[in-house]
Parts: sequence; structure tokens; C-alpha cells
Amino acid sequence: MFITFEGIDGCGKTTQVKLLKSYFETKGFEVISVREPGSTKISEQIRSILLNSKNTDIGLESEALLFSSARAQIVKEVIIPSLNDKKIVICDRFIDSTLAYQGYGRGMDLKKLDVISSFAIKDNYPEYTFFIDISIEESKKRLNNASLDRMESAGNDFFTRVRNGFIELTKVNPNRIHLIDGKLSVRMIHSRIINIINRK
Ligand code: TMP
Repeated sequence: MFITFEGIDGCGKTTQVKLLKSYFETKGFEVISVREPGSTKISEQIRSILLNSKNTDIGLESEALLFSSARAQIVKEVIIPSLNDKKIVICDRFIDSTLAYQGYGRGMDLKKLDVISSFAIKDNYPEYTFFIDISIEESKKRLNNASLDRMESAGNDFFTRVRNGFIELTKVNPNRIHLIDGKLSVRMIHSRIINIINRK
């Protein structure tokens, strides 16, 4: 089973990844959880280039390809081998982040991004994607005072487009992407996720 979590910064997906991992482990499953970009030696190096707020001159194409490059490495090194070993893989962000941030947010061509993504992931699409939705105001409040990385420093207009992008992607992929209200309590969000998985 391959599960991904998506949402704008501060939505709480990292907490939900941890809770879901422990849930499956208590049921006796082997679970691997990873984050994107990152979780392999090469992908973590790419992550630091992408998030370094000093790198103000990264071009749009370069940004999209770097995210995809980090993804290609994690898919090859971790995701495919783990799925082949019948482990459950939970990923904190995946292809939908590229569509939402680089596509809807930066305005890049969605079809071209789709092509790059499917090349990077060798068509290993997730079975379940949980989009935890919070408002831009809530995101700002939660990130308050944290030192913001290159992506987090983009303005409100950018994050509004990214959030709307995630909402649009949910409409386009209703069987895979499940929108969860991020204002609910951590426990409530977790139990909604479990219900959706068990229902299927
Ligand atoms: P994180 O802070 O959730 O670990 O994600 C890193 C940042 O990178 C976050 O601001 C979202 C952004 N991002 C993209 O712009 N495109 C992508 O494809 C991915 C995976 C993340």
C-alpha cells in the first residue's frame, strides 16, 4: 500500500504521517515513512538546495526538475524496493505537491509537469492521498516566528494558488485524493484517515 500526505505548509501532515505509521505498526505491518524532497542521501542534498533561502535565483524549470530529481531518487532507492517487499509506504508530500506548488503556484504547464512526474516515479502512483486543508491565515499562524525557508517565504497570493490547486486536484482525482479539514483535532483527523482506509 502506498499512501501520500499533501497540504500547504503547517497543515499538520507530518504529525499524521507519524500517527498512521504507528497505527499500522500496532497492527503488525511493516511501514516505511519518508518525506519529500528528502529521505535519501542525494534527495536530502537536493532538498537543501531547494529550501536554502539564499538561492533566490533558481529558475522555474530548474526548481521543477530538482523536485522531480529528488523524487526519482527516493522512488528508485526506497519506494519501489519497499513496495516490492510488501511494506506499507507513507510519503510526506509527493507528485501532487509539484502540481500544486510548481503548477498552480508558480504557473507552470500542468501537462508538462505530469510528464516529468510520471518519468520520475516510473508510474508508481499512490493508492491513497490525504490532502489536509487549512486556510492561508491558519498556515501563517502555525508557521509564526519560525525561520521561513525559500518555499515558505513565498507570499500569500502564491499560497492561495497552491491551496486552490490542491482543492482542484482533489476534484480531478476523487477516488485517490481525500480532502480532510485541517482545523479538526489531531485525533479526529487521524480517525477520519483510518476510516477511509478501512472502508476501502
Ligand atoms: P516540507 O516543508 O513539507 O518538507 O516541504 C518542503 C517544501 O517544498 C514545501 O514548502 C513544499 C515544497 N515542495 C514543492 O514546491 N514541490 C514539490 O514537489 C515538493 C515535494 C515540495
